[in-house]
Amino acid sequence: MSASTTPWFATPLAGFDDGEDVTTSSVSPMAMRHAFDSDALHELFHENTKYHRRTHAGFSRQIRAFLQDPTLIARGAASYRDLASFAAIDLPEPAPLAASLKSCLERRRSAARRDLCLPFTADNLSSVLHYAVRVNRTAAPTNAPHVSQTFRPYPSGGGLFPIEVYVISNAVAGLPATISYYEARNHRLRPLPNSAASEFRAAETTGDDAEPAACAIVVTAVFDRSVQKYGPRGYRLALIEAGHMMQNLLLVATGLGLKSLVSGSFYEAEVERALHLDGVSEAVLATVFLGAQ
Ligand SMILES: Cc1cc2nc3c(=O)[nH]c(=O)nc-3n(C[C@H](O)[C@H](O)[C@H](O)COP(=O)(O)O)c2cc1C
Repeated sequence: MSASTTPWFATPLAGFDDGEDVTTSSVSPMAMRHAFDSDALHELFHENTKYHRRTHAGFSRQIRAFLQDPTLIARGAASYRDLASFAAIDLPEPAPLAASLKSCLERRRSAARRDLCLPFTADNLSSVLHYAVRVNRTAAPTNAPHVSQTFRPYPSGGGLFPIEVYVISNAVAGLPATISYYEARNHRLRPLPNSAASEFRAAETTGDDAEPAACAIVVTAVFDRSVQKYGPRGYRLALIEAGHMMQNLLLVATGLGLKSLVSGSFYEAEVERALHLDGVSEAVLATVFLGAQ
């Protein structure tokens, strides 16, 4: 097999030859191959972030040290951006969420991108963020009783909450068209100065002529919050957490009668510029579009 038929890797896949052209085969070459390939970035990363009995003692030591150090615990508990100097928008009271979990699970489905443009209200957005993302309890860690650690309606590796949420409000009645940081502790939006909601539509890769979505929830990760305790494995934990949180968003949106769509179709650097992020210490992961039925 020639290197040109292995589009992802610099070198051919050793030992893989079933006589088929891998670019047209319906069988993934990866499914046929169990050897670790050091040219594949994702395999290299995954292999290097597995727990192995041989190396686990080192990981455990690092985690134990973190859990016993009040300074590190306090830093880990400060898992939010402090934009207190920016103007704030208090979100309205959330509405009751009457739909059953069963019906939300049964009815949740992705809307087409072009069908997500109908406006909805700040009450709806407030309810989505309240039930899906907002801080819902606090606790004092045993080894740092002076620290107030916050928790949310979804799980987080080590309770470090590396995931952040931004709202692109294009057509949300009661809110300006802007880009805001969502303060999960006190259920407020902090519009980012000099940001324009239209920048997000411009960063989407979709070449069709879809109007801007009524609202986009942009999910980012501050990887270091997790990495400082778990090393590179913290990167994985952040992605898993983002998935938990996005499913909350989708199920609550369904329960409130909103349409939704997870999208990864955007130019990251352009979205990060719109959100005033450097893309390294905090980077964009995904978007959840919301729109009225
Ligand atoms: C991480 C992720 C990224 C996705 N990106 C897109 C996207 O860019 N555009 C799109 O139309 N759908 C996107 N989807 C939606 C999937 O196409 C959809 O979930 C899948 O077809 C299953 O359909 P359902 O959600 O209606 O059950 C994405 C889903 C996930 C989980």
